[in-house]
Amino acid sequence: MTSSTSSVITLKINGEKHTLPVDHRTTLLDALRERLDLTGTKKGCDQGQCGACTVLLDGRRAVACLQLAVAAENREITTIEGVADGDRLHPVQQAFLDLDGFQCGYCTPGQICSAIGVIEEHAAGWPSAATSDVRPEAGPPPLSAEEIRERMSGNLCRCGAYVSIVEAVARAAGVQADERRGEDVPAGKGAAA
Ligand code: FES
Ligand code: FES
Repeated sequence: MTSSTSSVITLKINGEKHTLPVDHRTTLLDALRERLDLTGTKKGCDQGQCGACTVLLDGRRAVACLQLAVAAENREITTIEGVADGDRLHPVQQAFLDLDGFQCGYCTPGQICSAIGVIEEHAAGWPSAATSDVRPEAGPPPLSAEEIRERMSGNLCRCGAYVSIVEAVARAAGVQADERRGEDVPAGKGAAA
């Protein structure tokens, strides 16, 4: 049913299409959690401050609480439920597990989605506020702990698991760099940056 304040929309989430009526004011976060039972994406502040609701839109990080569901039509939406490759965890998920990158786990889905975005942004040569030389000819900076902290600074962790989170992101970035080069990476291992 549609009205001047609602529409039937189709969202493509983790490769599957979902058609549902939504009030135009419904956020993507509420559509995921309350309408589609995709509760892996967490609600923390509900105002763009904590990063708990981070998902990937067309491969880029976005906080789902500041995104209207109607504006997410025709986008590729990836949530934590969709980052693994079947039974094979995403390298970022594996690194968080191996290095204890969490305590209570509430912020973890957002941290992992954000880290996936960070690694792609870095590989694409995007600078951050911690990058000392942003000239294009300088090339991408090493993904140092300082760079990771800055790039992940939108994701808060009330448990303070930041040290392990930074280590996990560094390890996953090393694994993915090896995979890009076509090198074999043993399960659960990887080069820390
Ligand atoms: S719940 Fe979206 S940023 Fe906090
Ligand atoms: S692990 Fe508890 S809030 Fe981050």
